Amino acid sequence: MLKGKNVLLGISGSIAAYKSALLCRELIKKGANVKVLMTPDAVGFITPLTLSTLSKNPVYSEYSDKKTGEWNNHVELAKWADFFLLAPATQNTIAKMANGICDNLLLATYFSMQNKTYFAPAMDLDMFKHPSNQQNIERLEGFGNVLIPSENGELASGLVGEGRMAEVENIIKAISSQDRSWVGKKVVITAGPTYEAIDPVRFIGNHSSGKMGYALAEKALNKGAEVILISGPTQLTAPKGAKLIQIKSAGEMLAAVRAQEANLYICAAAVADYTVTTPSDQKIKKKTETLSIELTPTVDILAEIGANKKEGDFVVGFALETNNEVENAQSKMQRKNCDMIILNSLWDKGAGFGGNDNKITILHKDNNIQNFELKSKSAVAQDIIDSIQSKWLV
Ligand SMILES: Cc1cc2nc3c(=O)[nH]c(=O)nc-3n(C[C@H](O)[C@H](O)[C@H](O)COP(=O)(O)O)c2cc1C
Repeated sequence: MLKGKNVLLGISGSIAAYKSALLCRELIKKGANVKVLMTPDAVGFITPLTLSTLSKNPVYSEYSDKKTGEWNNHVELAKWADFFLLAPATQNTIAKMANGICDNLLLATYFSMQNKTYFAPAMDLDMFKHPSNQQNIERLEGFGNVLIPSENGELASGLVGEGRMAEVENIIKAISSQDRSWVGKKVVITAGPTYEAIDPVRFIGNHSSGKMGYALAEKALNKGAEVILISGPTQLTAPKGAKLIQIKSAGEMLAAVRAQEANLYICAAAVADYTVTTPSDQKIKKKTETLSIELTPTVDILAEIGANKKEGDFVVGFALETNNEVENAQSKMQRKNCDMIILNSLWDKGAGFGGNDNKITILHKDNNIQNFELKSKSAVAQDIIDSIQSKWLV
């Protein structure tokens, strides 16, 4: 996959920059043509001489050559590249890419790219976890850039945790395995909460943020699929390329799902089990000591999809369980005719609704069970997509 490809290797100012020399050598070994771009700060971490020797090309870090005044044309560099690989990606450079700040040659080239950009974050545990950094990473993915997830391990500071730049072999694997084998496949993903109206201003809802479903949409798009994202109310921006259908209630979500015919369904939404039998068309006044609201069960969307499943379709559900987790999830998979269930346990700290992380167990129809560590929702989404791929279309 890398043979003959023009790769712009971007390096920003992280201690992990020493690994970029090995990465450059590996890319060359695999037959790629490599040009290296460095931020001015990155030059303090690894010398341009090392990288120009390994890449067999000049290394660019300034807008112009200080001696000759010649312009290092960022537009030409961006046009030349089949893809841009930023490894390591610092918190600073990620933040600038996510917010349109263009104050060096590497950034100007990134903003001029027409082809894909991959980025491999590298930073200390607390920097990595900071909500601003997590938000910027999500934003970058939302722009269609491909995240090469950081790994767990010992960090240069001595801390241990997530934030270590992916190992060179894993970066090579990530860019080589950018398979587009889902081209021609239609994927419906449900995400977020549903709101069941009580009256024109009140509703019964839940705390689902939609992050898991949106991250899954991003990863399915990377595989080349057509993605229909049916979403309840969230604060999120749909990934570039996804068709977003916004709904509010469980009934609207059901109607939106029924209107689609897909090959793969991933039901990540937290859909209300009950809806208000007769919502008031006027705001309910505070008149009585107590107020009872009658609820009626909603249609089980996952069960309906499972019941209508055609040969070759693949159906994935989510289960949040509090006791006998695996048994209950397996029973849900059978009852609803699913191919896979993603199990969240309420007892796993940091997992589930709202946050940026999730810890899952994947249950397959063939009784295979995969347990995963606590990871960012983006990394979890990749695990889920990889797991679907291992059973579907094989
Ligand atoms: C020794 C050292 C190691 C650093 N390692 C990292 C790192 O791994 N990740 C990171 O985001 N910033 C790291 N920084 C901070 C960045 O170098 C700093 O934010 C710089 O402004 C980044 O500029 P750039 O993104 O333009 O390359 C480090 C700084 C020092 C002095």
